[in-house]
Amino acid sequence: MCGIVGYIGTSKAIPIVYSGLESLEYRGYDSAGIAYISNKTVHIVKEKGKLINLKEKLDFDANTNVAIGHTRWATHGVANKINAHPHSVGKFAVVHNGIIENYISLKNDLINNGYKFKSDTDTEVIAALLDYYYKENKNILTTINKAAKLLKGSFALGIICSDDHDAIYALKNSSPLIIAKSKSGNFLASDVPAILKYTNKYMLLDDTDMAKITKDTITIYDANLNIVNKETLTFTGSKNTAEKNGYEHFMLKEINEQDKVFTNTINTYFDGTIDSLKKNFGFLKDFKKIDIVACGSAYHTGVIAKHLIEDYANIPVYTEVASEYRYQKNFYDKDTLVILVSQSGETADTLAALRKAKSDGVKTLAIVNVVGSSVARESDYCIYTKAGIEVSVATTKAYVSQLTVFSLITMYLGYINKVIKKDELENIFKDIKKMPKLIKEEINNYQAYYAIADKIYKNKQIFFIGRGLDYANSLEGSLKLKEISYINSVAYQAGELKHGTISLIEENTPVIAIATNKSLVDKTISNIKEVKARGAYVIYESFIEPVDKFYNEFIKIPEVHPILENILTIIPLQLLAYKVAKNNNCDIDKPRNLAKSVTVE
Ligand code: F6R
Repeated sequence: MCGIVGYIGTSKAIPIVYSGLESLEYRGYDSAGIAYISNKTVHIVKEKGKLINLKEKLDFDANTNVAIGHTRWATHGVANKINAHPHSVGKFAVVHNGIIENYISLKNDLINNGYKFKSDTDTEVIAALLDYYYKENKNILTTINKAAKLLKGSFALGIICSDDHDAIYALKNSSPLIIAKSKSGNFLASDVPAILKYTNKYMLLDDTDMAKITKDTITIYDANLNIVNKETLTFTGSKNTAEKNGYEHFMLKEINEQDKVFTNTINTYFDGTIDSLKKNFGFLKDFKKIDIVACGSAYHTGVIAKHLIEDYANIPVYTEVASEYRYQKNFYDKDTLVILVSQSGETADTLAALRKAKSDGVKTLAIVNVVGSSVARESDYCIYTKAGIEVSVATTKAYVSQLTVFSLITMYLGYINKVIKKDELENIFKDIKKMPKLIKEEINNYQAYYAIADKIYKNKQIFFIGRGLDYANSLEGSLKLKEISYINSVAYQAGELKHGTISLIEENTPVIAIATNKSLVDKTISNIKEVKARGAYVIYESFIEPVDKFYNEFIKIPEVHPILENILTIIPLQLLAYKVAKNNNCDIDKPRNLAKSVTVE
């Protein structure tokens, strides 16, 4: 949700900051801009729309070694050039990721002090506030520190001032920010991909930290302007994870990585023995009730986990979206564990739900992909998913890695709670070994799913139905399809359709029916026949061979233990959604109105 990057060093700054923005464009693409200092003056170039529009306006050869850049996901004010960052007042230019909650009152105070504003943004208010205090004390550090104390909300800021062309300043509260050192200069950035071309070493700022970055030095201050030391971290993933490697889209590349992601996640926590599960998940054994809280696709993994943990471990699980959970009454007891699931680890609602649980004295576990992210750092326990960097806005491989972690947790809890017996556990172990090959086979079978996509992509709405776990899978199949193709899609519990929604079914309406639960398959088939009788174009997904032809298309998936089956269920639906979106000429990696990391409420 907005990406910021800053560079100061010995190289020309514009190409470096622009390439950083390219790696962060997944965070927002409503507008983009760069501010740089040349001849002791701040220059700003910005443009509406995707980064490519900015590229045409930039002078990549400009004589500057210091610049900050921004790619925007609009919050305050429409996506136009005036509201694009950087915002500048007096000698300051600012790029901002986050939301200033009290910007109206600050703005009114500044207006009373003679300031005039051009944009609708909260960020311009920050720039004005800096200008106001700087006129008073002429010290940049003190000015930023004073302003920081007045700002309420979330912010990661990159700041330059024409009085100091040898430094970039950074400030962080509740929005992610890293600082990195390379041979040819130093960086600030919202996320690691922005720096990977130059260095894999970085530091994480804590909330209320501030930094002064010059070409040779990085100085970090706490809120009282005491200098603080930060650990230098090393990004160990591949640089290539942030590149398309010949695939047309990041989404397709990431779908294709899912067999490896499954293997990496499994190998991190499981060596084929129950002892490895005890070692990695032993801390879970005393919890008697679990709440799983997340947003979007990550929430869907929670819905799946609820079914798995309840069915196979006999532990009651309550699953809720974080934006509701954070404000509602929650019924904890002393044995409750709250699990937060998040790819980015920076999702504002998930972070707020975590903080609420902690302040209520409840233990928390993060299942997170981004190492060192806020959710990971603030939780009592953390299990990292091993998906690597995920760039496509629509999650695929991170989703599968979250399901993989939940499979392991279910196995462990099921075994210690004596629901899963040794024989069954060994069969699951065998299935785990088979999974990478089965995942790859499904991915290689893409043409079969593409052929179905070619038949349905012109429809205005597409339904998903299923019961129990299959309903949970329907939720994700439906979200994947609608978010990238803009085709209206609803997931329904198969038995519930006839209580209203079935009136939307007309001749040729695609209905994707998932049936992997052996005990419920006949019930689901009855529901499928109900929609078929009303003209639906039925796409049936299952490993259970149909006895009669009640469908138009059959997506046959391999059968494994239900604890693992959900992974094999979603892959054909990811590829189907991808092809539907491609046929509709949608911008697959950057769907309209979306951004990858949702750091606002
Ligand atoms: C959908 C998607 C989103 C995210 C959601 C949570 O494809 O990616 O629904 O799952 O915004 O994001 P994280 O996992 O970063 O907390």
